[in-house]
Amino acid sequence: MLENQREPTSPRRPRSFSQTDGRRGSSCSSATGLLGHGPVSAFFPSTARAVFLIFVLTQFLVIAAYYMRIAPQACECSPEAPLHTDTPLQSEESLRQKRVRPPRLFYNRVPKCGSETLIELARILGSINGFTFTHSRIFFTYFLGEKEQLDFAIQVNAMETPLFYERHLHFEDFTKFGMAMPVYINIIRDPIDRLVSWYYFRRFQEGHIRKLPEEERNRTYDECVVGNYQECTQPQGNSVEEGYFKVIPYFCGQDDFCRQPTAMALERAIYNVNKYFSIIGVSEQYDEFVETLEYAFPDYFRGVGYLYTALGATVRNKYATTRKTAPSDAVRRIMTDKLQLEYEFYFFVKRRFEQYYANMKTNLTSRHTTQTPT
Ligand SMILES: *[C@@H]1O[C@H](CO)[C@@H](O)[C@H](O)[C@H]1NC(C)=O
Ligand SMILES: *[C@@H]1O[C@H](CO)[C@@H](O)[C@H](O)[C@H]1NC(C)=O
Repeated sequence: MLENQREPTSPRRPRSFSQTDGRRGSSCSSATGLLGHGPVSAFFPSTARAVFLIFVLTQFLVIAAYYMRIAPQACECSPEAPLHTDTPLQSEESLRQKRVRPPRLFYNRVPKCGSETLIELARILGSINGFTFTHSRIFFTYFLGEKEQLDFAIQVNAMETPLFYERHLHFEDFTKFGMAMPVYINIIRDPIDRLVSWYYFRRFQEGHIRKLPEEERNRTYDECVVGNYQECTQPQGNSVEEGYFKVIPYFCGQDDFCRQPTAMALERAIYNVNKYFSIIGVSEQYDEFVETLEYAFPDYFRGVGYLYTALGATVRNKYATTRKTAPSDAVRRIMTDKLQLEYEFYFFVKRRFEQYYANMKTNLTSRHTTQTPT
């Protein structure tokens, strides 16, 4: 199905972005306690009790109807899943309706791929375009237990819509709990560039510096790879800082096997992308990514192109990782070998994105021509 495609990694000047601590926490209300307090009804006279019961029943029916309406169409909201061909064709109008108005966008962001820029843009647009912007303050819990997954799904679905929610979190399947699925979006980056950026970011970026012996801090990425230190060359390390199998789990999901570097994890990630993810950009094509967001989700991203042009350079410089040394070609080769699965995934996403972008351009052009009076 997938070609074993690996492009030579040409030296490039990656834009560097970083994460910072959130300025606004996730203010979430819980949906529990909705049906009130049982013992209270014991004090009501019988007619009042009947009224109360009818009220409870009505609430229940409304909620049930809500989920029956929302859940089945949840993943059809994704504007286009180019490699997923078994969905029936829909009229352009219905597609447009669904495209522009998903109630929830969930950006389960991968670190060091330009996420801070997107968050900055979404934060501003939230107040202009009128949606709830929620920035999670949880940075180091990427996967959850069953109970936490349920709590999280309830929490997200209880927030005011339209909602843009972001958090570093491996993909979660809300339908497992019979709950409405948000539309997932994301952006990834060339795997080695991402690792190198993360490596220096956690050493030298103010506010994000790990506790390390100075000698280790001074070690370059090349020295780390050549010296075969676990931090750089083990697929999984002992902490979030270590290991290189990092991106696929964000798309594979919460299961244990998703955090193991196997073809199975890759396949599941691709399956989820096709089924649940809308736009996934690549940070090497950030301008195009911004364009697709505005096209696919105008209710959220109207004006983002303008804002990005206006703020882009400032935001990028603000989050550029300092003291980064580019890896040598030899080290790139060593890591490209190790990162084979991650590269397969990256090129899959890149192709998918480019295809979406090309379709978008075609559609925009044809729409323009048909509308032009002759
Ligand atoms: C680490 O690098 C800094 C800055 O270049 C230098 O001042 C310091 O002596 C180095 N420390 C070690 C242990 O190499
Ligand atoms: C382009 O238009 C076709 C036909 O209406 C539609 O199926 C497709 O989803 C559109 N693609 C994009 C990216 O809008």
